[in-house]
Amino acid sequence: MPVPLLDLKRQNASLKNDLDAAWSRALQSGHFILGPEIETFEKECAQFLGVRHAISVSSGTDAILLALMSIGIGPGDEVICPSFTFFATAGCVARTGATPVFCDICPVCFGMDPTDVEKRISPATRAIIPVHLFGQTCEMDKLSALSRKHDLHIIEDAAQAFGASYRGTQAGTIGDFGAYSFFPSKNLGGFGDAGLLVTNNDVHAERARVLRVHGMKPKYFHPMIGANFRMDALQAALLRAKLPHLPAYCANRKKNADFYLSELLEIPGAALNADACLACNCGFSNDCPDARMLLPFSLPDNDHIWNQFTLRIKGGKRDAFREFLQARGIATEIYYPLPLHQQECFADIVGQLSLPHSETAAAECVSLPIFPELTRDELAEVVAAIRAFFT
Ligand SMILES: Cc1ncc(COP(=O)(O)O)c(C=O)c1O
Repeated sequence: MPVPLLDLKRQNASLKNDLDAAWSRALQSGHFILGPEIETFEKECAQFLGVRHAISVSSGTDAILLALMSIGIGPGDEVICPSFTFFATAGCVARTGATPVFCDICPVCFGMDPTDVEKRISPATRAIIPVHLFGQTCEMDKLSALSRKHDLHIIEDAAQAFGASYRGTQAGTIGDFGAYSFFPSKNLGGFGDAGLLVTNNDVHAERARVLRVHGMKPKYFHPMIGANFRMDALQAALLRAKLPHLPAYCANRKKNADFYLSELLEIPGAALNADACLACNCGFSNDCPDARMLLPFSLPDNDHIWNQFTLRIKGGKRDAFREFLQARGIATEIYYPLPLHQQECFADIVGQLSLPHSETAAAECVSLPIFPELTRDELAEVVAAIRAFFT
């Protein structure tokens, strides 16, 4: 039985009436740029996240860029971000004219490693961008303490973590800014590109709102240089139909993750990433020599929303593993095959840099289908294929 990585048609079919109604409401309003749909969506997001300001934008990438622009990051500044992430995290820093400084990750939760961050702080450092990769937050208490100690801004890249929480607080609402993506594969997946920027700071919010419309205030007067970072009203109307279902989507993903975890742990050589660490008695490291497959671990203080279910396949077998599943019709994906400090476009600014955990993750990680509408039979098919690979 083929198992897709993602099937958006299943989710949308179950919402057909609500989506049709939202679409025609927005069409009939004749209001396509900003306006009531956008304002209501922003209020609903702010309420969901428990944050003062939610500013809808054109993409998750633009949310990060807008955050950087709002605090005036530019040439001469350094911004620390993890190397093992999607390109946008660092690409936005470079687009402001500032320099991305890459740090390593925690091999267990994939978040930026606070100890490594601190080593890379220089007098030019203005901000850090923790990325809540795969739907689980970084170690935010340690990162917040660092930001206070060194007077740094925090822009949370919560693109993959809308609805996740850390010690009861929503991911993205802890730092100065949180940036979310509604790219269709996200837990709250949109209908094209869209994103959201949030902040509890009134001054940051006002600057971001002005920069979102070309730095224009009042109309056709430009105290700042911004750009067009607006979300379409049609998009907001459709996302409003989905937002109330987000907790159920996240709960289904968690159920799928729990199924994988209990079934896959039965396979000889499989270990929870954290168990492997404990077995090695080395704290948060995953260098257990006996593990063949490490399963993702949800840290006790985190509410993980499982945007991805990412395994580590040890012993150089990741690509063979993927091909084996592919031959059985099971789709997988590699997020991400090359860490950012090794990307060609950053060669000039990075030079020689070794970030061992990021490099290992890029060589070992593979993500399984985890979307909420997967059936039990499909999940079982994935498990059976993985068991077959290891026997
Ligand atoms: C970690 C991370 N940051 C930023 C982005 C950028 O979001 P978007 O694709 O909406 O521009 C993504 C989306 O894929 C992401 O996963």
